[in-house]
Amino acid sequence: MNTNPYKHYFPIFTKHPDLVYLDSSASSLKPQVVLDKMNEYYTEYGVNIHRGVYSLSYQATEAYEAARGNIASFIGAKAHEVVFTGNATESLNMIATMLGRNLTSKDAVLTTQLEHHSSLLPWQRMIHEKGIRLDYVPLTASGRITVENVKSAITSETKILAITYVSNVLGYITPLKEIIQFAHEHNILVVVDAAQAIAHLPIDVKDLDCDFLAFSGHKMFGPTGVGVLYGKESLLKTCSPVEVGGDMNDDVDLYEMVVRPIPYRFEAGTPMIAEVLGLSQAVDFIRSITYPAIMAHEKELLTYLHDKLKGIPHLTIYNSTADIAILSFNFNGIHPHDAATLFDTRHIALRAGYHCSQLVARFFHCYGSLRASFHIYNTKDDIDQLICAIKETLEFFKSYLED
Ligand code: ALA
Repeated sequence: MNTNPYKHYFPIFTKHPDLVYLDSSASSLKPQVVLDKMNEYYTEYGVNIHRGVYSLSYQATEAYEAARGNIASFIGAKAHEVVFTGNATESLNMIATMLGRNLTSKDAVLTTQLEHHSSLLPWQRMIHEKGIRLDYVPLTASGRITVENVKSAITSETKILAITYVSNVLGYITPLKEIIQFAHEHNILVVVDAAQAIAHLPIDVKDLDCDFLAFSGHKMFGPTGVGVLYGKESLLKTCSPVEVGGDMNDDVDLYEMVVRPIPYRFEAGTPMIAEVLGLSQAVDFIRSITYPAIMAHEKELLTYLHDKLKGIPHLTIYNSTADIAILSFNFNGIHPHDAATLFDTRHIALRAGYHCSQLVARFFHCYGSLRASFHIYNTKDDIDQLICAIKETLEFFKSYLED
């Protein structure tokens, strides 16, 4: 029985009434209002922005810039501190490339083993390209980032801290505010990967005082193909763009150009107009649902889940104290992909493998994990079905199980 007050907003359940969707950390489902907004743009004023000297183009431009203002206010930023990109990966690559230009072989970047590859690899690449040193914050035995451990890992060479706000595998929230304050006392710039965080908790960039912050639209009920790079105005102004082309310059002569003010200088080419409007609508959707309601719903699901998991043998759970509704686990002796295949036959969609964060698996010395991640459309009935599938999997693979 579905008593979930949010599920009806998501049309995918009309097409797939049996779906048990436990992969929201990979991508959330999309509410009808977001699809409607994108459709409205394409059907009513679907033309290019910033270029046309005609009414429809003004209308589209106004809608796009209003969306920027709306998304900026959602994270406590000024409109011109929000740069639209294709996704969090593009945002994190862009900022690493821009900041990396000033790094030398005397510098170190500090990061963690909890990073998604998009927060790690742009900096790892600089070991080879710029000769930097890449340092890691030691994690606690359960895999958490602590303020003390960040403090202990900072050296006089540390110039940048690249850190996740919420782990996409373990669902731990990083105590960012204190970490950022300490980093700033040591003149370290902080780049935050908020791709998971934004879907679950309110973010105020001014309160956090982070220097740069990245997220994608598609994990927060918005469309794929749009991401955000937030940067402090004073810092963004010192950055020169990675991509050049149309709409990012004010003047071009034979050998030079004059770049436009921020954020436009970072948005070369026709942007993802429908997607930006869809993301703005997703922001309004979250505002209407409210973060406290999202967090309360997840807490209730997580408590119910852990209660149901009690006493089930042959399971390794990697994050039994997760802060958001994510369960990472393995059947002892069974490859996660084999188990996930069986789950699929029960209409249960979850992720298996490294979750684009292979260093987490290295930390736990495992070949990846199964990850069930929840959001507002999930129900206790979904959890009952997950538990039932776990028990069926145990039975199916019983001769291969280890303790
Ligand atoms: N970053 C996404 C995940 O965690 C794709 O699954």
